[in-house]
Amino acid sequence: MRTEIDDLRALIRHHERKYYIENQPELSDAEFDVLMKRLEALEASSDAPIPPDSPTQRVGGGAVLGARIPHRNPMLSLNNGYDEQELKEFGERVRRLLEEAPTEYVTELKIDGLGVSLIYENGIFTRGLTRGDGEYGEDITDNLRTIRSVPLRLTETDAKIPAVLEARGEVFIPKDRLDDINVQREAEGEPPFANPRNAAAGSLRLQNASITAARPLDIFVYNLNYVEGVEFSTHTESLEKMKRWGLKCNPHTACHKSIEAVQDYYEHWVAERDALPYETDGVVVKVNEFSHRNELGATSKYPRWAIAYKFNAQQAITTIERIDVQVGRTGVLTPVAILEPVTLAGATITNATLHNEQEIQTKDIRIGDRIVLERAGDVIPKIVEVLTAERTGNEAVFVFPDRCPVCDTPVERSEEEVAVRCVNVSCVAQLKRRIAHYASRNALQIEGLGPATIDQLVDKELVRDVADLYTLEVEALSELDRMGVPSAGNLVRQIEQSKMAPVEKVLFGLGIFHIGETVAELLIEHFLSLDALSKATREEIESVDGIGPQIAESVVSFFSQHQPLLDKLRESGLHCFTVAADATRPEMSMVVDSFFGGKTFVVTGSLEGMTRTEASKEIKARGGKVTSSVTSKTDYLIAGEGAGSKYAKAVELDVPILTETDFFQKL
Ligand code: IVH
Repeated sequence: MRTEIDDLRALIRHHERKYYIENQPELSDAEFDVLMKRLEALEASSDAPIPPDSPTQRVGGGAVLGARIPHRNPMLSLNNGYDEQELKEFGERVRRLLEEAPTEYVTELKIDGLGVSLIYENGIFTRGLTRGDGEYGEDITDNLRTIRSVPLRLTETDAKIPAVLEARGEVFIPKDRLDDINVQREAEGEPPFANPRNAAAGSLRLQNASITAARPLDIFVYNLNYVEGVEFSTHTESLEKMKRWGLKCNPHTACHKSIEAVQDYYEHWVAERDALPYETDGVVVKVNEFSHRNELGATSKYPRWAIAYKFNAQQAITTIERIDVQVGRTGVLTPVAILEPVTLAGATITNATLHNEQEIQTKDIRIGDRIVLERAGDVIPKIVEVLTAERTGNEAVFVFPDRCPVCDTPVERSEEEVAVRCVNVSCVAQLKRRIAHYASRNALQIEGLGPATIDQLVDKELVRDVADLYTLEVEALSELDRMGVPSAGNLVRQIEQSKMAPVEKVLFGLGIFHIGETVAELLIEHFLSLDALSKATREEIESVDGIGPQIAESVVSFFSQHQPLLDKLRESGLHCFTVAADATRPEMSMVVDSFFGGKTFVVTGSLEGMTRTEASKEIKARGGKVTSSVTSKTDYLIAGEGAGSKYAKAVELDVPILTETDFFQKL
């Protein structure tokens, strides 16, 4: 018997589809909320179990986030083409391989987000995976469930709901929502996301699905990867059917009989893509007929039946009005070009980093220069060219300051590096950055301590070092701009909580030169406490595997100058001073693995499926060791994308190199 609950669930599903998938709401937000509230109330008062596909069950479910699951068939990538010639070559190759059979091409926008796989069993969304290494994906079911445009249950149509359906699509964040997320991140002391793609990727891999639920994620499904019991002959048919089942497909799809028509579609979107509310980085051209696709097949990397016809990076020309110098956490002075505001890829650009003094000299960048800015996916634009031909003679050569622009201390230049530093450890600019680093997510994770708050705390001299954070009280905090009693209370609680942080996080948070997360972990593994580390000699520190003389020098010099800070932190009640390191670190079950056990690894470059820290944890959990530099004692180098000098060193020393895929297989 159908009950009110069943009817209400069906009604809400209908309106979710209208609102989130078809963009044609039939109810106001308030009316929709009334329905949801009613359903929640009925479910709460009923004894019947709540099915996982009820519209109230978007957060929660209990899948193991991050578990590695094999894909039914590999999630391939796409071959790229960059101009009309390469598009034509693709068309010719397809026709040659299909022996001139007439071919239809479907064109779609290439959405710049994160590829995912959605699995429905008997119409219920049961599993969602990232692409991972293509063979294995990470389980992100619970995070995908929070996306309102991912139906938890497929809509019934005239055809039977398939027993199994696997669709692939792209999760993204609308362009105009990135700012909101970044403002919030900065308030929480987190670095902003460089582009919507990173924001989407970061949001989908969060361990806490309720945070994902608050992120404005959306999806376009672009391929029916597998279906049981229904036959399709073309891609267009499958897209139509997927839409009827309630999956969200991009509306700007077109079907063409010739490659020339594909070029027109591409040119249309070159001109119009800025107006789209999401980032696109090209057009995907796909052979429509499935029989043709099967005939064409795939290489190990990409299908022969499709190509990503990429858009060029967008450029704009503007003028450098002046060059400012910013002071970072370690005192490094970074020049920033302040630009005459210019619109680039739909965003207004007002400044661009010039990286360092040398960059200005090699590119001969002058104040007043006309320059070409380029934005390739990232929010942060690059100066790619100085238009020297446009110089009038009024341009001024920038003289790099000899004194810190914030505290006026003479700067230092060293032989070994390009960086110019302010060496005054009490420089307020550095202090502000050090506090931000201490509070950041990978260190003490004090949420709610953003740059605006830090500026005021330092300027009002409420905080002179990181230990002063522990003296802050609600009353003083609530008098800061844009801070009421509730947020002040919250911040004090967050600061209090940070006292429980594991010792390696505290060590990393101190911001000692050359001490990144991995090195902090290595040092703590060996010395167990900050006290022991602070008493260690240069030789003792250098004897730790993976620690070189530069790090040892940096540690010794830091602790020789900062004993008072350490004492202050101890008196503030930081947990790591009173318990042994092992007790503060979360339990990690150690299984000595036949491959990893007892071997020494170095991880370099960026991995697609996990961060380097996560990779190190996986290795250590299997009894392996992770060091930071490649030596003859290194057993394997794990090289992600952009691996550089460590890769070269490994080749030189004949150290075996594992790709990310090899590494995943070993795991
Ligand atoms: S089709 C077998 N269609 O681009 C490959 N991919 O660089 C099937 N992407 O991994 C891919 N929009 O994550 C396809 N309309 C679209 C797409 C699209 C974005 C992503 C996808 C893929 C990557 C390749």
